[in-house]
Amino acid sequence: MTEKKDWTVGEWIYKPEEMFSVKDKVTIVTGAASGIGRAIALGFDALGARVVLADINEEGIEEAAKECRGDILKTKLDVTDEKSIQAAIKKTMNKYGRIDVSFNIPGINIRKPALELTYEEYDKVLQINQVGVFKCAREVGKIMCDQKKGSMINMASLLAEGVLPFQVAYASTKGAIRQMTGVLAIEWAPYVRVNAIGPCYIETPLVKQVMTNTKWYESMRKLNIQKRFGKPEEIVGTAVFLASDASSLYTGALLLPDGGMCNFFGWVET
Ligand SMILES: NC(=O)c1ccc[n+]([C@@H]2O[C@H](COP(=O)([O-])OP(=O)(O)OC[C@H]3O[C@@H](n4cnc5c(N)ncnc54)[C@H](O)[C@@H]3O)[C@@H](O)[C@H]2O)c1
Repeated sequence: MTEKKDWTVGEWIYKPEEMFSVKDKVTIVTGAASGIGRAIALGFDALGARVVLADINEEGIEEAAKECRGDILKTKLDVTDEKSIQAAIKKTMNKYGRIDVSFNIPGINIRKPALELTYEEYDKVLQINQVGVFKCAREVGKIMCDQKKGSMINMASLLAEGVLPFQVAYASTKGAIRQMTGVLAIEWAPYVRVNAIGPCYIETPLVKQVMTNTKWYESMRKLNIQKRFGKPEEIVGTAVFLASDASSLYTGALLLPDGGMCNFFGWVET
């Protein structure tokens, strides 16, 4: 008698040909009007997801929506205002009846030495990057926990892992996102997975402001072992992985699409 194999591909929980699929997944992308959020929204739309484009910048949403080919929903959302988050979620639920994936992406930076940064400036960064992300996570988390299903992805940064000068508020919020992700992953397990992405420098409006400083740009570029900044679309692969069944054992993790920067101590003269 032949013994039954427990490694027959046809019997795997997640079929290899489907495990990276985000097709038909209802995916809320906050911060979809620009940069990394826009790339994720457009990438998921191209892969057949049902994307909810959410941002405070309505003009930016309209522009991004023009590039979409599939079934999308546009909604204004200010992460600092829980009523606007609740309204966007209600709109999503009315149209689709579920939320499969949620990206909590908005973030700003005010680059100044700590002794020059005002408390108001620190608080402004905190309210969007950290409190705003928590508000989105909590409101969507209620739905995902009720559904007993969902993948949530928060946008951290390489600065959740290491630090650079003149970014005391920004780096603090990104470290907080990492820890927030870990706690939510535990509380919402086993059904809802919560992970974070921590990219290196990516060429978006947030970074282009400082790229004009060529001295700064050249020294930062060399810290990336690929000797370049990333493009927004290079974050889409990590986003698809975390949203899909391919990452079924990942929760509470911070993935670093960082061009090798995090691991790098600097070039040694020989
Ligand atoms: N660009 C990088 O190098 C880089 C690296 C690591 C992490 N990140 C993170 O990625 C995220 C996106 O950054 P980006 O570079 O694409 O920036 P971006 O400025 O291009 O996009 C940020 C988006 O957030 C939106 N936003 C700002 N305030 C908002 C609010 N109150 N409510 C809703 N939306 C709001 C903006 O309208 C914009 O569409 C941020 O969290 C950032 O910290 C960026």
